[in-house]
Amino acid sequence: MKDMKKNILLGITSSIAAYKVYELIRLYKKNNYNVKVILSENALNFVSPLVLETLCENEIYYKQFTPRTNVEHIGLVDWADIFIIAPISANTISKCANGIADNLLCSVFCAFLSTEKPVLFAPAMNTNMWNNPFIKENVEKLKKQNINFIDPQEGFLACGTNGCGRLADINIIYETTLKYLFQNKKNNNKKIIITMGGTKEAIDNVRCITNFSSGKMGRALCKWAYRLGYEVCCISTLPLENETYKTINVSTAQEMLKAVQENDFDYLIMAAAVCDFKVENKSEHKILKENIKNDFELKLTFNPDVIKTIAENKKENQKITGFCLADDDPVNCAKKKLQNKNLDFIVANEIKTALNTDKNKVTIIEKSGKIINIDLDTKDNIAKKILEVVCD
Ligand SMILES: Cc1cc2nc3c(=O)[nH]c(=O)nc-3n(C[C@H](O)[C@H](O)[C@H](O)COP(=O)(O)O)c2cc1C
Repeated sequence: MKDMKKNILLGITSSIAAYKVYELIRLYKKNNYNVKVILSENALNFVSPLVLETLCENEIYYKQFTPRTNVEHIGLVDWADIFIIAPISANTISKCANGIADNLLCSVFCAFLSTEKPVLFAPAMNTNMWNNPFIKENVEKLKKQNINFIDPQEGFLACGTNGCGRLADINIIYETTLKYLFQNKKNNNKKIIITMGGTKEAIDNVRCITNFSSGKMGRALCKWAYRLGYEVCCISTLPLENETYKTINVSTAQEMLKAVQENDFDYLIMAAAVCDFKVENKSEHKILKENIKNDFELKLTFNPDVIKTIAENKKENQKITGFCLADDDPVNCAKKKLQNKNLDFIVANEIKTALNTDKNKVTIIEKSGKIINIDLDTKDNIAKKILEVVCD
């Protein structure tokens, strides 16, 4: 995708958390972003220029005054699509808030502030420093100038105490960077529900029937919906951790239906593989092998049809997208489903390319009958393309 190759300017200051940015740079690079690094000179005590240069595959910058042909701090501002300082120290926060530009990092910030491009700060420091009234005041001052903060987290700190001050989780910093790179402000007040994973139906209190859904498509949809600026509610059967959006954990089809009914949406995308059946003769207690002579029968009854039930009661402005997975001719199967369930869109995919894979190819069918084919691509890229069609 051509707009994936964005330029990220990463500032690093002299916090003990600086070692964590190696992983952040790797994440940016792995996902095809260009990275340039500027350090405060004090940060050289905490990270190695050689490692940084190797990871970001670019020269790194920290000298304010060197013989040069171009003016470094202006060139970097022009190059960057976003400027993120992670970790940002108490000292650099205060300098930035007061227009002090006594090193390259702060000079770049001074020049960056006059552009429309996003700036992100991820502070890390001892709890007492974070609670210092001058730091608080400076943070507020910066927020008023549209500097976006990724707040530090509670936890065990390098100084041996517990409290607020830990650098935010690297995945959260990564996802927030992408959100500020890609978000479309027109999506900001739009609510989207995405369901993911395979539902589970109990046989007894330890066993269940389920399916082979990995949740990869749903997860990719959630990530892109968040990055594009939607208010995301993910209803998942899989455990989720450190996500940047609201998550609700469910297990059965009935629970999934209830969770969707209890949350408002502009767009609903049902990427979850919902079990069509539940066990009617399920046991409250573990079924013991010793108590079974030869075999025993599970009696299956239909689950509620989650998407159909929601579509029957949908409001006029709401758009509902379903998924259809079939062995053969998924497009035909999807067309029938689209009509029977009164959906706005349906995404058809074949079991052999879709189930438990990292790549997929899909066909989106609109209510009007219009067909959009998306060729084989990563689920991540497919998710973005689906959202561009179904949430217009
Ligand atoms: C071992 C050590 C760890 C430090 N960790 C932090 C930190 O996590 N956050 C912070 O704001 N300052 C921390 N400091 C203090 C800063 O390094 C100091 O304020 C420095 O002047 C900041 O410079 P800079 O903002 O130009 O990088 C630490 C200092 C030392 C010696």
